Amino acid sequence: MCGIIGYTGPRQAAPLLLAGLEKLEYRGYDSAGIAVNDGNGIEVAKTMGRLAALSTMIHGGSDVKGTVGIGHTRWATHGKPSDENSHPHVGGDGRIAIVHNGIIENYKPLKEMLMNRGRSFVSETDTEVAAQLIDYYYEGDLLAAVARAVRELEGSYALGIVCADEPDTIIGVKSHVPLIVAYGEGENMFASDIVAVADQTRRVTYMDDDEIAVVRPDSVEFYTPFLDRIEKEIRTIDWDVSAADKCGYEHYMFKEIMEQPEAVRRTLAPFIADGRVSLENALSPELVRSMSRIFIVACGSSYHVGMVAKYNIEKLTRVPVEVVLASEFRYCDPIVGPDTLVLLISQSGETADTLEALREAKRRGGHTLAIVNVEGSSIAQAADSVIYTKAGPEIAVATTKAYSTQLVVTVMLAIYIAGLRGTISDAEYADIIAGLEALPEHMQHILNDKASTQKLAYRYFNCEDIFFIGRNIDYAMSLEGSLKLKEISYIHSDAYAAGELKHGTISLVVDGTLVIAVATCSRLVEKTLSNAQEVKARGARVIAVTTDGNAEKVSAAADNVIAFPAMHDLLLPSLAVLPLQLFAYYMALYRGCDIDKPRNLAKSVTVE
Ligand code: AGP
Repeated sequence: MCGIIGYTGPRQAAPLLLAGLEKLEYRGYDSAGIAVNDGNGIEVAKTMGRLAALSTMIHGGSDVKGTVGIGHTRWATHGKPSDENSHPHVGGDGRIAIVHNGIIENYKPLKEMLMNRGRSFVSETDTEVAAQLIDYYYEGDLLAAVARAVRELEGSYALGIVCADEPDTIIGVKSHVPLIVAYGEGENMFASDIVAVADQTRRVTYMDDDEIAVVRPDSVEFYTPFLDRIEKEIRTIDWDVSAADKCGYEHYMFKEIMEQPEAVRRTLAPFIADGRVSLENALSPELVRSMSRIFIVACGSSYHVGMVAKYNIEKLTRVPVEVVLASEFRYCDPIVGPDTLVLLISQSGETADTLEALREAKRRGGHTLAIVNVEGSSIAQAADSVIYTKAGPEIAVATTKAYSTQLVVTVMLAIYIAGLRGTISDAEYADIIAGLEALPEHMQHILNDKASTQKLAYRYFNCEDIFFIGRNIDYAMSLEGSLKLKEISYIHSDAYAAGELKHGTISLVVDGTLVIAVATCSRLVEKTLSNAQEVKARGARVIAVTTDGNAEKVSAAADNVIAFPAMHDLLLPSLAVLPLQLFAYYMALYRGCDIDKPRNLAKSVTVE
């Protein structure tokens, strides 16, 4: 996912742009660049590789003079990672420069039109086409040229634009890819994400689709692509700015693992009072009582939250729940109607597959409820209603605290729905509420005991194949444990329903294969243990993840046991995920991997 930053004010722009881009590095990128207007023209500095290479090239920004500029980190979509394909791109003779996040779907016919009118191109990107198109329409009024070009662009994109002839202006365009405007004193900015500007200001505007922002040091104006003026709300963000820093931890991922008890506590607090869960603003009692089925639609770890939620919601509410990968949902002709609740789960709120699935669900008449961590994000804006997790900014590509906060929101949803539909006893309702309120402390207890998991990682970090197995809700946990491990350690790993191994996969088990058996569901422990014994009989080493009460029983079938005090069944996944996260982290640490920015991955996948 690319990152955009823009600045206009009295200060030198380049150092500020580099600092903002550094905050956006977590999004994943392969090149970086800036364009600064010094009043006499625009200077572009860009290079393939890490941001540090760009900073070194321009001596921390001191080589590039000017107080107005734009910056970009590129995650390649059209055109391989290269100096030529990195942003900013310029139009015409270099009087206009732009940066871009997203995809311009009709760039080819536009490129052909421009080439037929004598324009030449130096890159393979769709972005350069937008730059040339704006320049083509430019006749001295930058806003008019941008508006004219935007009316012809198709796709999902955010743009940042500077023009040599307008030395105090930066223009931002938002169309289905996030862009926020940030307000300072005598200076203003725009950026892809609040994280990039949170250390400069707390006053922001979340742009909506098909809006153009004309940003100057002492004014910000918003327009439609037809140049109608728009009034926008200025909001104050309540983030703790340090949340977007490492605060002394070696990696964001480890910091975010350790933040989970507090993140869960913050997420629960607004919705639990006097022993009851109140979610009326997100899900009306009328809809809860009338709905006949629930879809949970998401990607990656958010999908794994849905897998856990299915067991919990069906168990308490007896409403059928179908969990579908967002990338599949759009094409499976889903049976969705006014009686269907479609729950979309997304940390970033910008995942393209999930956003498109949401639109498909709305087209079919379903009620869309989003669980999102980023306020004002596209999915939050597009859903009929939204529940915000309070994980705070999650920087590491591998999600941890957002996963855990999503999990507890689905537990609250389960008891809220069950309470309204009369499928839960008062005693069990109270038991689960008490468990939720005690959960952060139980999580902290497990995190305090991280050394035992660290030792296991040190013993096994050279493994090249690791299988996770579990039954029922433990299978859902196995999926997340496997994804965490492979995405940051690059170890091949898969998760299997424990009972499924003997139907094929067990042929892969050889001497020394590591199998992690997640066995927290007490009524199924014996079954999972027999599966663990099957793989041990074929040479596997087994690590079992279970509760204290099952530890002795489990130790008969496992080489190593990670155990923790039990809680209500609905809350066990919130505990079991912690050693799985820690194991993945330490395995990657000992393998020397780039834990916060794994290869090929982005924090939010805004392309399909
Ligand atoms: C999680 O560790 C992964 N980085 C990834 O699977 C992620 O969960 C997925 O891309 C969905 O992202 P979202 O929650 O922001 O929609």
